[in-house]
Amino acid sequence: MTLITFDENKQIFHLSNASISYLIGIEKEAYLSHLYFGKAIKTYHDGRKYPAINRSFSPNPDGIPLKTRDFSLDTILQEMPSYGHGDFRNPAVQIKQVNGSSITEFVYDSYEIIFGKPELDGLPATYVEDKKEAETLVITLVDKLLGLKLKLSYTIYANRDVIARNALLENNGVVPVVIEKLASLSVDLPAQDLELISLPGRHIKEREIERQPIQRGTRIIDSKRGTSSHQANPFIALVAPKTDELTGIAIGLTLVYSGNHEMLIEQDQFSQTRVMAGINPFGFEWELGSNACFQSPEALLVYSDQGINGMSQTFHDLLQTRLARGRYRQAERPILINNWEATYFDFDADKIKSIVDSAADLGIELFVLDDGWFGKRDEDTSGLGDWIENTEKLKDGLQGIADYVHQKNMSFGLWFEPEMVNADSDLFREHPDYALQTPGRGMSTSRDQYVLDFSRQEVRAEITKQMRAILDTIDIDYIKWDMNRHLTEVHSSTAGAAHQGEIFHRYVLGLYEMLEELTTEYDHILWEGCSGGGGRFDAGFLHYMPQSWTSDNTDAIERLDIQYGTSLLYPISSMGAHVSAVPNHQTYRETGLEIRGDVAMSGIFGYELNLQDMSQTEKTVVLEQVAFYKIHRKLLQYGKFYRLLSPFESNQTAWIFVNDDQSQAIGFYFRKYAESAGPLRVIKFTGLAPDKTYQVNDDAIYGGDELMSIGLYIYPFLEGDYQSRKFVINEVK
Ligand code: DGJ
Repeated sequence: MTLITFDENKQIFHLSNASISYLIGIEKEAYLSHLYFGKAIKTYHDGRKYPAINRSFSPNPDGIPLKTRDFSLDTILQEMPSYGHGDFRNPAVQIKQVNGSSITEFVYDSYEIIFGKPELDGLPATYVEDKKEAETLVITLVDKLLGLKLKLSYTIYANRDVIARNALLENNGVVPVVIEKLASLSVDLPAQDLELISLPGRHIKEREIERQPIQRGTRIIDSKRGTSSHQANPFIALVAPKTDELTGIAIGLTLVYSGNHEMLIEQDQFSQTRVMAGINPFGFEWELGSNACFQSPEALLVYSDQGINGMSQTFHDLLQTRLARGRYRQAERPILINNWEATYFDFDADKIKSIVDSAADLGIELFVLDDGWFGKRDEDTSGLGDWIENTEKLKDGLQGIADYVHQKNMSFGLWFEPEMVNADSDLFREHPDYALQTPGRGMSTSRDQYVLDFSRQEVRAEITKQMRAILDTIDIDYIKWDMNRHLTEVHSSTAGAAHQGEIFHRYVLGLYEMLEELTTEYDHILWEGCSGGGGRFDAGFLHYMPQSWTSDNTDAIERLDIQYGTSLLYPISSMGAHVSAVPNHQTYRETGLEIRGDVAMSGIFGYELNLQDMSQTEKTVVLEQVAFYKIHRKLLQYGKFYRLLSPFESNQTAWIFVNDDQSQAIGFYFRKYAESAGPLRVIKFTGLAPDKTYQVNDDAIYGGDELMSIGLYIYPFLEGDYQSRKFVINEVK
């Protein structure tokens, strides 16, 4: 199947599979224009050719054949706009030159079509397993004055509704230039009413859904924190005003990157919308020497005409199967018990063993020893940087705990926070310069810790060495990679003044290099990302670690919002979710064990509380939850996920997991607050086969069409606040 064609006469590239088309034109033999992204069309007949219009105050570029007043870069829809020749909108690329100018003019030079999808040097990206899965168009633009080549890559998969893009800048000139901005993707959409969906948040309240009309002017969603952050997830969606979960157009955009990002949306004077995503130009400068090149991160653009849920499902499948890697990519994930909320720093070997005993009795499969097992770490003010077991706490060391856990037929997991150092640590005492710091200025602390300068190879090597010493001697099956502060005073003591603007990005590149090395070498380990909960829940990290701790907020009710919001982009197989104690440690709310279980098993299920303190009745509930999850986890971790009712819109939340052949499904309904003499609520399911017959909860029989169109009453009534109900739906033949 040919996925990419070039029409020589019309000078048009057409990327197309059975469901989407992406059209790029070359205007005036020079400028790359965006023509269309949407539902597949067979043949293009110039319907989107930008009309020749003379607009006042929109300049006409020089040097093109037949210079005319009715062509301006300020008005046409572009693919990768430069700065300085009359487009007054936000540029996608800005390059500072030795003469002080930042003006560039990238014009079309050539193209190449490649089977498959090339890897990105040093950066995480989606991939193919077979070259037949995708084709990649590489369009080369040149700035002749500067000798710069800008190579834009567009990958289209044969059976996914996504375009993966990146940009590579090559300096073939004789003098260095400074990249001030290089977006991974820019696309201009014609005038239309659009709304913007984004996922802002904060620590313990990640990824809330915001939706608002796009109006004229520029809106930026970005992180300057050094990581993708709790505050601004690198994701946006543009939707038609009437788009809902299952109908209407949604265009989703994410960046496969874990550092400072910028998602920019600009509606211009003619109501056209420019969208771009890339490394945040704030605090960024990259000196590009002669013969050097700079690779942007990958951006993923998804099209759905089946609403927001359609967009999410395309992202879920892509991130799960062609971004995440390793043997756990699609393997059933173990049920874990983590000791953090059970003990915090207050534990010794006996306490840990008693948690392990109870977990083993209840059928839990993986014990994770969280923060506090190393160095001098009795509280969060010391020890980071010294990854040596603390034998005062663990009398037989880590090996003693690992052996104990393994004897119980459980796996053993360990927590690390490799990127950090406390002032009170041997590492900092010996190498204070290893921490990021700006000469002559104070060093801000956050949770009493500093950030190690991972842009430096020797710093990474020291931490890698310490980690290896543990990984090579102790049987570790799982690692939680945490990061509990953001970057300040960003300056590297070994980089020259001209290179300090590179440090934010070099930090991320260094981190990726280390993650690549460790996760591929220790590929028997299940790696879980974390950053104070869900502070680095991004597609970049998912390339190395197939799951991530979704939030430090373990309250079941708050988790409804957090998991619902996270599911807009990220697959359920990536979301760690644990049952914790009540009153909850973040909200002080009391909820029942059933709803806590139902919310947590709507993710990668685990527990994080003192199981040994539970009553026998509670233990029986846990036994049932564990047994239920083991039977159904394939469906719950990898089934198609449909959101049914939004916690952001009402008192009710609901979602359903459906397997590939629609023979099995599990629906969950949650109600936050009791409704006195309340209405008889109805839940309608989605994703079932209308012509199949199903049995619900081993009881009544319904047609798939009935379950989706008529639905079921939530009856018997739920009693009290914070209630949930499960619907196990099985096909009967
Ligand atoms: C933040 C994480 O999100 C928690 O789960 C826990 O691991 C703590 N850090 C430990 O310091």
